[in-house]
Amino acid sequence: MIIPKPQHYETRNCSYSLNSACQITTQSSIRHLAKYLQEKLATETQLTLPIASIGDTNSNDILLEIIDQSPEIDWEGYHLEISDLNINIRANDQIGIFHGIQSLLQLISNSPIHHDSISIAGCCIVDSPRFSWRGMHLDVSRHFFPVDDIKRFIDHLARYKFNRFHWHLCDDQGWRIESRVFPKLTEIGAWRIEANGSRYGGYYSQSDIKEIVQFATSRFIEIVPEIEMPGHATSSLAAYPEYSCTGSTISVATEWGIFDNVYCAGNDHTFTFLERLLDEVIDLFPNEFIHIGGDECPKTRWRECPLCQHRIKSEKLANEYELQSYFVKRIAAFLSQRGKRAIGWDEILEGGLATQAAVMSWRGFEGGIAAATMGHDVVMSPTRHCYFDYYQGNRETEPKAFPNDLPLEQVYAFEPVPAELSDIDRKHILGGQGNLWTEYMPDWRQVEYMLFPRVCAMSEVLWSQESNREFGDFKRRLVRHLPLLDRLGVNYRKMD
Ligand code: ACM
Ligand code: ZN
Repeated sequence: MIIPKPQHYETRNCSYSLNSACQITTQSSIRHLAKYLQEKLATETQLTLPIASIGDTNSNDILLEIIDQSPEIDWEGYHLEISDLNINIRANDQIGIFHGIQSLLQLISNSPIHHDSISIAGCCIVDSPRFSWRGMHLDVSRHFFPVDDIKRFIDHLARYKFNRFHWHLCDDQGWRIESRVFPKLTEIGAWRIEANGSRYGGYYSQSDIKEIVQFATSRFIEIVPEIEMPGHATSSLAAYPEYSCTGSTISVATEWGIFDNVYCAGNDHTFTFLERLLDEVIDLFPNEFIHIGGDECPKTRWRECPLCQHRIKSEKLANEYELQSYFVKRIAAFLSQRGKRAIGWDEILEGGLATQAAVMSWRGFEGGIAAATMGHDVVMSPTRHCYFDYYQGNRETEPKAFPNDLPLEQVYAFEPVPAELSDIDRKHILGGQGNLWTEYMPDWRQVEYMLFPRVCAMSEVLWSQESNREFGDFKRRLVRHLPLLDRLGVNYRKMD
């Protein structure tokens, strides 16, 4: 019944009665997780259970317990046992307990109510994830979504045991993260004038960002912020045209596409600007990875720019593609000095890349295969399985989307580890990710529509073992899961 499907699930011939006489029992070190469970139960079942410490055990407890170094439980994994008398969630780490809680909440949402009790069928679950990078991306540049929507998104990810939220914070059509050092980024870069003359935009203040990071951290989700470079930079160059090759005034873009004005790779001030900006980003996000974009950077301006051409000569680069590689390596090295790792779209491979940088393979699997073979870590996110801005069904009847197709079954058929990789190289595949580019998602309802139910399929690709996955079985569990989405008010696409 659970999505993503657990590794091992056995039914027991008994059932647990969840009612107001139950309590949650926990160690003091994970009391915050007991509180999380208490709050979710209160909203989803109207039961507010007391929280007790281990020692004051009641006979019908929900017990949360960290067992240090249990060899039987994998990293991020958990054991969940439901018997007549107890519900027992055990793990080696807090994130394991959190995952056990998510599974329990899904079981509860599917359980019948008898009199004043929810009757949860007995079972024993042993579970852990297949991949360490289980990601979803959200573009907030093409359309902007307020803090509460972002929290709702993070809650959706937590429900399906994702652990990375790739937050695409800037692009040609809007800059969405406050910089105290470069205030024009949001004064100018966060706003565009639409074709009808209206002003569209918005951004997250640094205090909004801190609130969201704290919210995500409490749900064991690492945010991977993306600051795009050297292309897709129209919104920041509208604010600071001096970092482009021509220096001429440009406007924040209103149309979707690829734009010629990019950061000047020959001007050292461009790097100073980006490094000071990245220092602010680093202070806001306590995580390992910073995404630096790197995709779709036209070389038009660089070919004509004296500074860029001078850089090509002085660095003995072959052409503008190697200039892009110079740019990316220089920024990746800066991040590495700051104790962070760079990740970028697969174009960052062109012309060579520093080994500590990771690659997000989007144009297919090929970039990821090449990167893994060269020793880079890889997140697979190929368009044909991972682009949730594509249509889910009949283009005539579906809401307008990017003109390509990605039905639910094709998400489920995604296999992040290409068969041609050697055993050593396949260790570089950290996992995969679904991407939500929001050109055609003007509001939150449409974001959820494009997300659901495909996010459920993606969660299972990234969590469950390949041998344990079968689309028909997934679909049956999904049908039973939909009433929960109805109760949560999720605007999901109805299945064919
Ligand atoms: C991308 O879709 N341009 C990464
Ligand atoms: Zn230039």
